[in-house]
Amino acid sequence: MRQDDRAPFLAALHRSRVAAYEPGQYVGQESFMRADEIRRLARCAGIGSGVPVLDVCCGTAGPGRYITAELGCSYLGVDSSAGAVAIARSLAAGLPCRFEQAHLPPLPDGRFAVVLLLETMLAFPDKPALLAEVARVLEPGGRFACTVEAGSPLSRDERARMPDADTVWLVESARLTETMAEVGLAPTWRRECTTSHRATATALLRSFRADAPAITSRIGTRALDDLLAAHQLWDDWLGSGRVRKFALVAEKR
Ligand SMILES: C[S@@+](CC[C@H](N)C(=O)[O-])C[C@H]1O[C@@H](n2cnc3c(N)ncnc32)[C@H](O)[C@@H]1O
Repeated sequence: MRQDDRAPFLAALHRSRVAAYEPGQYVGQESFMRADEIRRLARCAGIGSGVPVLDVCCGTAGPGRYITAELGCSYLGVDSSAGAVAIARSLAAGLPCRFEQAHLPPLPDGRFAVVLLLETMLAFPDKPALLAEVARVLEPGGRFACTVEAGSPLSRDERARMPDADTVWLVESARLTETMAEVGLAPTWRRECTTSHRATATALLRSFRADAPAITSRIGTRALDDLLAAHQLWDDWLGSGRVRKFALVAEKR
């Protein structure tokens, strides 16, 4: 999602998103993760009371607000979108959350016990540069918790069909593991989530189509067409195994 003015998108898609997730599983995420997947990953990364957490590419911070409310961490969310950060700030009123607007990398200076990167690894063409920054800001023994879109690079034809293809950079699992090792990040937990994320993509696609007239009236036909095209491709690619999804935790050695 590229739109800096995030508010019309949030308003336009809210009803469909609520309908697409099982009860209790939508917490404001802009992604295919369910709330229980977000909570499990956070727990596997050792997020708990007072733990300093940096959420890279937090968006409007649905997951960040959820984790902070549930687990009581000390939370900093960063996103390049001024609109997303403004919404995150207002929705997090009363929670111990801070937000900054920045295009990453570099990551904000500091020492964090956990760095989160949810559903946005694919936006970074230079993963070694990103992961080196993650390792730099983690304290020794700190954990990097992320989701990964794994697969070979998109072909020219696939790029032509994917809206905003310049934000879609898949990575081979083996290459990601090598890059992590190079920067001192050792995987400690990994779970495949292709099937559940495919189910979410399918449900979102169905939901957006059902609410198309209302969505179009808020964001226009072109934006809805792009949204549907992207979700159709994710649905196909996750369904066929062209792309696999993983949640993983790696420890800084
Ligand atoms: C798919 S959303 C995911 C948001 C959130 N992590 C979640 O799971 O709900 C991706 C977010 O990454 C942000 N983003 C993408 N590339 C970025 C970059 N290089 N620096 C900072 N933010 C970035 C976008 O603005 C967007 O809010």
